[in-house]
Formats: sequence, C-alpha cells, structure tokens
Amino acid sequence: MDTCISSFSHFLLLLCFTSFLQICCSASQLKSYIIYTGNSMKDEASALTLYSNILQEVAESKAETKSIEYHYKRSFGGFVAKLTEEEANRMARHDRVVSVFPNGKKKLHTTRSWDFIGFPLQAERAAAESDIIIGVLDSGIWPESDSFNDKGFGPPPSKWKGTCQTKNFTCNNKVIGAKYYKADGFFSDDDPKSARDVDGHGTHTASTAAGNQVSTASMLGLAQGTARGGAIKARIAVYKVCWYDTGCADADVLAAFDDAIADGVDIISVSLGGFSDENYFRDGIAIGAFHAVRNGVLTVTSAGNNGPRPSSLSNFLPWSITVAASTIDRKFVTKVELGNNNSYEGISINTFDLKGKLYPIIYGGDAPNKDYDGSESRFCFSGSLDKKLVQGKIVLCESRSKAIGPFDAGAVGALVQGQNYRDSPSTLPLAGSYLGLQDGATVYDYINSTRTPTATIFKSDEIKDTVAPVVASFSSRGPSLVTPEILKPDLVAPGVAILASWSPVSPPSDVDGDNRTLNFNIISGTSMACPHVSGAAAYVKSFHPTWSPAAIRSALMTTAKQLIPSENFQAEFAYGAGQIDPSKAVFPGLVYDAGEIDYVRLLCGQGYSSRTLQLITGDNSSCSETKYGSARDLNYASFALSVPPSNSSVSGSFNRTVTNVGSATSTYKAIVTAPQGLKIEVNPSVLSFTSLNQKQTFVLTIEGTIDEALQSASLVWDGGEFHVRSPIVVFRAA
Ligand SMILES: *[C@@H]1O[C@H](CO)[C@@H](O)[C@H](O)[C@H]1NC(C)=O
Ligand SMILES: *[C@@H]1O[C@H](CO)[C@@H](O)[C@H](O)[C@H]1NC(C)=O
Ligand SMILES: *[C@@H]1O[C@H](CO)[C@@H](O)[C@H](O)[C@H]1NC(C)=O
Ligand SMILES: *[C@@H]1O[C@H](CO)[C@@H](O)[C@H](O)[C@H]1NC(C)=O
Ligand SMILES: *[C@@H]1O[C@H](CO)[C@@H](O)[C@H](O)[C@H]1NC(C)=O
Ligand SMILES: *[C@@H]1O[C@H](CO)[C@@H](O)[C@H](O)[C@H]1NC(C)=O
Ligand SMILES: *[C@@H]1O[C@H](CO)[C@@H](O)[C@H](O)[C@H]1NC(C)=O
Repeated sequence: MDTCISSFSHFLLLLCFTSFLQICCSASQLKSYIIYTGNSMKDEASALTLYSNILQEVAESKAETKSIEYHYKRSFGGFVAKLTEEEANRMARHDRVVSVFPNGKKKLHTTRSWDFIGFPLQAERAAAESDIIIGVLDSGIWPESDSFNDKGFGPPPSKWKGTCQTKNFTCNNKVIGAKYYKADGFFSDDDPKSARDVDGHGTHTASTAAGNQVSTASMLGLAQGTARGGAIKARIAVYKVCWYDTGCADADVLAAFDDAIADGVDIISVSLGGFSDENYFRDGIAIGAFHAVRNGVLTVTSAGNNGPRPSSLSNFLPWSITVAASTIDRKFVTKVELGNNNSYEGISINTFDLKGKLYPIIYGGDAPNKDYDGSESRFCFSGSLDKKLVQGKIVLCESRSKAIGPFDAGAVGALVQGQNYRDSPSTLPLAGSYLGLQDGATVYDYINSTRTPTATIFKSDEIKDTVAPVVASFSSRGPSLVTPEILKPDLVAPGVAILASWSPVSPPSDVDGDNRTLNFNIISGTSMACPHVSGAAAYVKSFHPTWSPAAIRSALMTTAKQLIPSENFQAEFAYGAGQIDPSKAVFPGLVYDAGEIDYVRLLCGQGYSSRTLQLITGDNSSCSETKYGSARDLNYASFALSVPPSNSSVSGSFNRTVTNVGSATSTYKAIVTAPQGLKIEVNPSVLSFTSLNQKQTFVLTIEGTIDEALQSASLVWDGGEFHVRSPIVVFRAA
C-alpha cells in the first residue's frame, strides 16, 4: 500500500528483511514468479492444460512436476509458480507468455477535506449513485464502523457478481462484498484469515471514498465534526491484498483485479504501490488496470510517498489516474512550554493532555542505557534509554524518531528535534511534538543551563492553514520514468492530516503498546489522496454512467483548480492538472476520450511487439495494422513535451480530439497562456459543435526555447459556460 507516512513502518522493515534474504541465497533457489499470459481464455480447463504444458517445457528437471500455485481466469490469464531464475528466463521467451516477473511486494502508500475542496454535503446527487460500486484493494475493512452501516441502502445493484467471505466478517448493503487474497497461504495470529482490517489503512481509504456521513467523528477530540466519503451512497467491495506481516504481494494484487473486474465494480481504488518496472507488463497494478480499462473500469492509484525528488512516482500508468497529495486549510500544531515560561510551536497530532503540568525534562543523550553511549541514546531508539533516568519525564530526542525509546522506558512525553518535512504531522505513542532545529537547540540550551529543567506539552491545536492547498513534500513527483510525455501525476487531492474511520484494534501511532482505541484516526499520505479521487470519480460516473474511464479522468482534470507553480516544487509534476472539483467535473463541456485501441497504439509506439499485444487483447490488433502512436498522440487532457538535455530549442506537436458533452450547439475558443520564449499555437483555434457527442480534432504546436528545467503553460477551450483547461509542460529530459 502506498504507505501513509505515519503508518506501515512494519511493511518497510519486512521489505528490507526479505531483500536481505534474497541477496544471501544462491541463484538456483526457487522463487515465486507471476507468469502473465494476456487475455483470458474462455475455457478454464484448456487454460490449465496450457499452463502445465508451458511449465513442463521450461522445467530444468523433467522428473519433478512443477505445480501451478494459483491461476487467474476471470478477467485475464496467467498463473503463479515457483521457478529458478533460469526457468523464469526460458519462460519469458515462450511464445504464449507475455511476461514473467518475481512475485514482489508493494507497500501501502476527513472530514473537512471535502468541504475544503468545495464539495459540500448538500451537493446535488444522482439517484444512480447507489448503483456505483467502488472496489478497494487494501488491508481489508472494519465492517462495524459507522461509516459502513447500511441504513437506507437497498439491495446491491443487479450487475454485482461478487461474493462475501464471512470469516469473522459480515457484509451488508453498503459493504456488498469482501474477499481476501493470500497466494502464499501464510496467515499469522496478528492478521488472521479474514477480510477484516487489523491495520486501519483499508478502513481509512474505503471510508474516504464512499463512507457514510458520521456526525460525531473525531480523533479523541481532534478534528471534531462530520466525517464522510465522496460518494456517500455508493457501495463498497473489499479486496484484501495487504497483510500486517507480509505486505501486499503482486500475485494477490493481480488476483484481486481478476475478480474485481469480473464482479462488476465501476471504480478500483488502489492506495498502494512499489517498484514499477520499465515494462508495463511486469507489474501487477499495470496489468490489472489495463484489463480494467478494457472492461470500462477506472483504476485510481496513489502517486507514492517518495517526494519531493523528481521522477519518484510509484504509479504512472497512462490508463489509470495517478493522485498526488496536498494540504487542506486545517493544520495541527502542538505547543510546548518550558519552566522558564518560553513556549514553542511544534508539529504533531497529540491527543494526550498533560493539563499544563510541568514535568522534569532530560536530554536523551544524557540518559544512555547500559551498553549505549550518549551519541546513540540522543536518537531515542528503543532500548537505548535508561529507564531510571527517563521514567516520568519528558525526553528531548534528535532526528525524526517515533519516540519508541521514551515510550518503552516509561517517559511522560517526548520532544523530537529536526523533523525534515514539517508539513505532515506524525502521531507519537505518548505526549509529543516535533520541534524545528532552532527551537530544539534552544530547548537543549535550557536543559543544559538549568538546575531543574521542566517542560509541558499541550494537546494539539487546530489552526487555519492559509496557504493551502500546497502539495505535500512527501508526495512523489513526475515525470514518469517510463513514458515521460504522459504528464503524471494527473491530479492532486487532500492527503495531509486526513480524519477517517479506523480499526479500533490498530494503534493510531503504529507503535505496539499504544493502547488508544479509536474509531477515527488522522493520517497522511498519497494513500489518503487516492480515495478522494475514487469517490469523486464515482460521483461523476453516477451522473454519466456510460462515460469511459478516460472521459471521467478528463472531466476531473479539465475542471480542476490550478495550483500555483511557484509555490509547489516541480509544479505540474507535483499536482498535474490541479486539485479536484467534483461538482464542476460533472459538467466539463468537452472531454478528451480514449479507449483500448488508443492505449494499444501507444504501446506499439513504445516498442511493445504485435505478439505481446495480440496475447493481451486476444484479437488481431497489431502494431503493423494500426498507426504507431507517439506518447504525445495519446488523447490525453494534458500536454507534456520533453526537450533533450543539451538543447534549449523545442519543437513538437500534439493531435487531440475533443467530444462535446456540454451544450448541443456551442463554440469554443482556444486561449493559450505561455511563458516568454514559447510559442504555442492551436489549429483550428475555434471549434464549433452542432450536436452532443460530436467530435472535433485540433493540433497544438509548441516552438521556442526554454531557460528553465520546467516551464508551465496552459490551454483553455473557452465555451462561455464551460472552461476546459489543460496543463502544458515543457521540460528538460533527465
Ligand atoms: C475477529 O477479529 C477480531 C480482530 O482481529 C478479533 O479480536 C476477534 O477475536 C475475531 N473474532 C473471531 C470470532 O475470530
Ligand atoms: C512564569 O509565569 C508564571 C505565571 O505568569 C509566574 O508565576 C512565574 O514566575 C513565571 N516564571 C518565570 C521563570 O518567569
Ligand atoms: C553545556 O553546558 C556546559 C557548561 O555551561 C558547556 O560547557 C557545554 O558546552 C554545554 N554543552 C553544549 C553541547 O552546548
Ligand atoms: C497497554 O495494555 C497492556 C495490556 O493490558 C498493558 O500491559 C500496558 O501497560 C498498556 N500500556 C499503556 C501505555 O497503558
Ligand atoms: C485473426 O487472424 C487470423 C488469421 O489471419 C484469422 O483466422 C482469425 O479469424 C483472426 N481473428 C480475429 C479475432 O479477428
Ligand atoms: C535542437 O532542437 C531543435 C528543435 O527540436 C532542432 O531543430 C535542432 O536541430 C536541435 N539541435 C541540436 C544540436 O540537436
Ligand atoms: C496529426 O494531425 C495532422 C494534421 O491534421 C496530420 O497530418 C497527422 O497525420 C496527425 N498525426 C497523427 C499521428 O494522427
């Protein structure tokens, strides 16, 4: 899962551990691989025969029979098997195989947020909203949460073909389906066999996308108000692919896509990601989302939490939506006061109330446990502090620590100095606040110069953040490393300090022993931004049930609120078209549509062979028959032009087609905004329509020079009533 910043460190730990094991072991070791064979075969028995034959053909030892551990069948074909590296290489060359890749791991990457983006509870809703099904691939769900009760919901829409695994779980007319996936068959006591969410992440994302309205939500008094999802009347289908101990395996992600598409979901929400291969068909999300779009199902993904460095995206598929995370106008600050009456404003989500009482304060570096010295204990790692010295006190720690050391040693509070990115507040297992470098140094001086230093930490305050929305520093930036001329991310949505439902069994700080039992928690990550767009897409689809995934994406993009380039590092590569505006997205005027054939053309242009594409599509569409497409020619609602590193002159053109979904008779004028040095022309510059669904094409040409690594421009088709805005970026290739 594209980990929320505060949660999921256990997955990270686990990933490091597994990769260590892989390094240690010999090349002939058997590993779990996914063998993707493309389009699904109608007949399951003949598919299984084919898979066994392929397996026997590549097996090193003919004596031993290899087994198919799992196979995909409903929406596409493929299977999972244990192979040596040699066998995997042979398999990849087999002419019935599209790709072979290791069964890798992905990571998991309210509510004021909807009001902030201008989508009030009273927004007009279509009756069809209750026919929309959002499939959530995540850590499961806590079905008893108030966000998911089914009061007022009728039976599931008739198109629903999914199931409910009722192991310690009940579905209802809101959560209409639930299934768990674990191809490796390993279940631990910490996360037993069930679609139940013991982590909280899946409950949080599902309630953000489609949770009911809950009027008395708060995190122990913080962020008090009404929590709700984007599409409050939509249904939820749960696909549990992420597990507390083992993370999210690609084999399970694929199995969930295989089912979700066939089950009849409309939107698939995926707040997880990881290493994405240069080959789109060596990645579970890419394969799953491709088959989804072929079936008219929109996949929404989180951008990743590896920002702000350029090209740090973990999801960037041309056939899905990639969502970045931004701040909202509510910010959490945590005041600290010292015995000398000086006070400091730190950043954290602190629900603990020390009631203004002063406690002794000690520097972690002055309290090493035996076998440690001060240069180690100043970071406050678990076990590094002397219990006798820190018990009942507040501890000053260095670096971005979770203060597990002070918590385990019985401290009352912790101050952590020098958080790198101060725009996303963390939750500590005890009273705590993150101080800036200078404030932390001042507190240190006070401790060092005072005979009996004391301090107190206050419960967090909510203050107005007047510069919001700004893209969070952790939010991954484009350009895409694989197809840089498809602008990614597409959109930005709230992802910092988001209140939403939680699993009461999961500690809010993600630290064992934190006994706070919560029904709502405040966390940050592109994981939180993604379901805002899933909910908004469901909302748009409820007004336009026949719109394609590309049309819905276009509507969300061309109506988005633009963010200010100079206030966001990497500008459009941080926020794409801008912040979603669901109410406007229902009436976009024009849409940039695309379908399977357009993506196939794009892939031809990217060098994928006819054979590969035939296996995937199951028809004779081949690269020789269709026109090769450059990435620039995919009918996308944004424009990205890359300039070779050694050349400041640019020149390029884009062909686009817009479809009229506004007023039958209408005329649109092109309005271009461009920086000095760039000449951007649109031909024709006026488009006239005489009927709905009529299409018109135009060519956008860019010429000139750039003197910066990235320059922002835009095209607006102004139809009076509708303003159809597309971002344009011209950037120097890496
Ligand atoms: C159901 O799951 C919860 C949370 O993991 C657990 O506390 C409870 O014991 C389980 N109940 C049963 C009947 O397994
Ligand atoms: C801090 O403020 C309190 C209340 O105003 C006062 O009684 C106390 O003397 C002050 N302490 C110092 C060190 O200034
Ligand atoms: C702490 O105070 C002592 C005595 O005033 C001083 O010598 C020392 O440099 C201080 N330590 C630091 C790290 O500032
Ligand atoms: C949390 O609960 C456990 C088990 O009841 C208990 O041992 C522990 O002391 C509690 N921790 C805190 C911080 O209250
Ligand atoms: C694909 O081409 C082959 C040979 O040209 C032909 O026999 C077959 O019917 C075609 N299949 C489809 C789905 O068009
Ligand atoms: C620089 O780019 C321009 C426009 O694409 C092209 O005409 C020119 O030949 C390029 N110059 C070099 C040295 O590559
Ligand atoms: C783009 O449009 C121009 C002008 O209409 C046309 O000549 C060209 O073939 C088009 N290119 C593609 C790839 O469709």
